[in-house]
Amino acid sequence: MNKDRARPTAAFIDLAAQRKHLGDSLEKAVIAVLRHGQYIFGPEVSELEKRLAAFCGAKHCISCANGTDALLLVLMAEGIGPGDAVFVPDFTFVATAEVVVLAGATPVFVDVHPDSFNMDRASLEAAIGEAKRLGLKPRAIIPVDLYGQPADYPAIESIAKAHNLLMLADAAQSFGASLNGKKVGTLADYTATSFYPSKPLGGYGDGGAVFTDNDDKAKLLLSLRCHGKAPDKPESEFVGLNSRLDTIQAAILLEKLRLFPAEIAARQKVADRYAEGLGGVVQVPSVGEGATSVWAQYTIIVDRRDDFAKACREAGVPTAIHYLNPIHALPSYTEYPKAPGLHRTGWLARRVISLPMHAYLAPEAQDMIIGTVQSVVRSLKAGVAAE
Ligand SMILES: Cc1ncc(COP(=O)(O)O)c(C=O)c1O
Repeated sequence: MNKDRARPTAAFIDLAAQRKHLGDSLEKAVIAVLRHGQYIFGPEVSELEKRLAAFCGAKHCISCANGTDALLLVLMAEGIGPGDAVFVPDFTFVATAEVVVLAGATPVFVDVHPDSFNMDRASLEAAIGEAKRLGLKPRAIIPVDLYGQPADYPAIESIAKAHNLLMLADAAQSFGASLNGKKVGTLADYTATSFYPSKPLGGYGDGGAVFTDNDDKAKLLLSLRCHGKAPDKPESEFVGLNSRLDTIQAAILLEKLRLFPAEIAARQKVADRYAEGLGGVVQVPSVGEGATSVWAQYTIIVDRRDDFAKACREAGVPTAIHYLNPIHALPSYTEYPKAPGLHRTGWLARRVISLPMHAYLAPEAQDMIIGTVQSVVRSLKAGVAAE
């Protein structure tokens, strides 16, 4: 190798590159807000809601302060509370289960499918049986679109229909993806997403949104996100939250939304290059038939994960773990029920590791990552063989 040539470097997520790409349009958008001064519910908020709804084909978009609140607001709008069971995957970010507890209901943990790492249909059926056995009232399912790939909504929907359950999609990681030609935002009764900065469509702070086609519930959600006070009413009618999306965040997201389709395509290219370079070396993620992913994470499965992560770090490749534990094993969640036979989430939590993934990952940097992973796996295997 030419020693004079600098070794490419890789950021796990490169928000600075994205910012550079957007040029001064972002600054202009923020300055426009500073000039008009409507920091709360300024015109950018309703404009963003309109554009997001049009982007995914949902009838209503209700923005709010973050993705966690987006989930909680739906549970509040549906009056889900004590005695109710809400089915959540055991392998997800903690917010999915947290909101159920905050609503006063009981989360029931469901195992995930070995290919997609998303909610498993047979385990969901077992979890519903378990909830009934415990005297809980099954009310809702929260499928999570882990790492950016939609859950198996057709299968989950048939179970939801059979048991009269509501479907609330946790699409914090998957806004922009699709399943069988339908965009995320239209695959469930409600969809909640997050604009946390590292999400595929991220702001420069917290933000979230709910999507639904239900006119009455959309109205209620508009009220609940602002202390239970509808925009056209003088007084609070319900117990709600203070969960508004800041106008400045809306202005930033409007700019980022313009780039979003091109960024999704760029992420797909990065995922394809990883699959080509790492398939057969490690277990790479698979996307189900009819689905597209927005690759919130590119997560592989490895043996000896700690050694793998250390060797990658030493070679200049950052990695991250999503997630270290299944939710049922977290200290605050051990008391809640789970589907009989649940076992895959613990296995996954010991082996998953995410590689750098963003729309601005240059091919040279990605080839460096791929080469590093290949050689780390080779040397770990050789080490095992020599032991
Ligand atoms: C699956 C999932 N659900 C919910 C959330 C919560 O979103 P937020 O951080 O915007 O509250 C996240 C964000 O990390 C997530 O990944």
